[in-house]
Amino acid sequence: MRIVLGVSGGIAAYKAVEVCRRFVGAGHEVTAVLTDAARRFVGEATFSALATNPVPEGLWQRWDGGIAHTRLGQRADLVVVAPATADFLARYAAGMADDLLSATLLVTRAPVVVCPAMHTEMWEHPAVVENLLALRRRGVHVVPPESGTLAGGDEGAGRMAEPATIVATALALSARRCDLTGTHVVVSAGGTREPIDPVRVITNRSSGKQGHAIAEAAAARGARVTLVTSSALSAPAGVEVVHVESAADMHAAIAAAAPGADVVVMAAAVADFRPKAPAAQKVHGLPELVLEPTPDILAGLAEARRPGQVLVGFAAETQDVVARARRKLERKGVDLVVVNDVSAPGAGFDHDTNEVTILGADGSVAVVPLTSKRQVADAILDEVVARLERDARDTRDARDSKRDTKED
Ligand code: PMT
Repeated sequence: MRIVLGVSGGIAAYKAVEVCRRFVGAGHEVTAVLTDAARRFVGEATFSALATNPVPEGLWQRWDGGIAHTRLGQRADLVVVAPATADFLARYAAGMADDLLSATLLVTRAPVVVCPAMHTEMWEHPAVVENLLALRRRGVHVVPPESGTLAGGDEGAGRMAEPATIVATALALSARRCDLTGTHVVVSAGGTREPIDPVRVITNRSSGKQGHAIAEAAAARGARVTLVTSSALSAPAGVEVVHVESAADMHAAIAAAAPGADVVVMAAAVADFRPKAPAAQKVHGLPELVLEPTPDILAGLAEARRPGQVLVGFAAETQDVVARARRKLERKGVDLVVVNDVSAPGAGFDHDTNEVTILGADGSVAVVPLTSKRQVADAILDEVVARLERDARDTRDARDSKRDTKED
């Protein structure tokens, strides 16, 4: 794997040398990119000697047959910034690109891990807190600092995490990248629109952001992805998109895509009811609406599921959220239900962030605190992958024991 190790200017830069050594020791190709301030703490020669490649000099250099400020980011499989100072985080959150490290971060599509290191007062400052929140929302991973001795002999929170922790976290994150290779994942997203007449519809507040984030994450992890969506959001790269409008359209599109799929994730807010007889012409005056239930797509999938297929439902609730979601999990007969309290600040409809609890039919409970919808997506896919792997293991064991019985 090609790793760019960014080093910004804090005393913890000396620990970045050990981070570099460990990545190289694990067999990865490492290029260290130092800010000007980092060079005041640790010499370029140290990183050039330990890393796989020499330290690039700066923004204007040619690199790997191209220009350094784009080529490094384009070719990276993983970017880790250790230490990430308060100043660096502010510049990254603002989208600056006036040195090689910041430009590389704007260019790269690889996972990015930042490892903050600073004094406690800075770590707790609202500006730093907000910058980190903005970065988290964009899918940047943060290895939080620890408490301990800081520069100048002070004590408190803000000391960069240990190199072993940073390397293990970063490698675990990038291992996710291929864990859905060879699978077909179907994701639904957005709120359906049920016609009253050719002009009006009944709909809900879903933007499609959560479902699109799941589709994007599944594609990044190697899956072939079909996204059935009613949202006008742009489609994630490499994903096959089926645009739908009503619950009936979504039902038809999911019914076509699901039978061959390994995983189906129903993140869409499908209308539970619709006008029974939509008017063919615009209604004038107050219409009398007679409603009928829509088909329960998820429950239908559970009835028709093939062995090994993993089904994930959502539950959008505003009270007794976990208890209601648990009942939904049983009623719908799915493997996982992702419950969000859509009345909680920053969670549910239209936000870029979400906060969920993932309930498994096997009794598992995973709580994901408020974070970007992309990170929620990865947490859901972690649960999905665990089930696919368990299923593959069970199938293998059953086959082996059948063969052993035959041989006896
Ligand atoms: O789109 P965003 O703005 O990002 O917001 C995200 C979200 C809040 C929409 C999302 O996180 C979410 O909660 N999606 C499910 C919303 C919903 O309809 O929940 P529900 O509790 O009413 O439905 C339970 C499950 O049954 C869902 O998986 C739903 O897709 C499915 N369902 C519902 C009705 C129906 N007729 N058929 C279904 O398959």
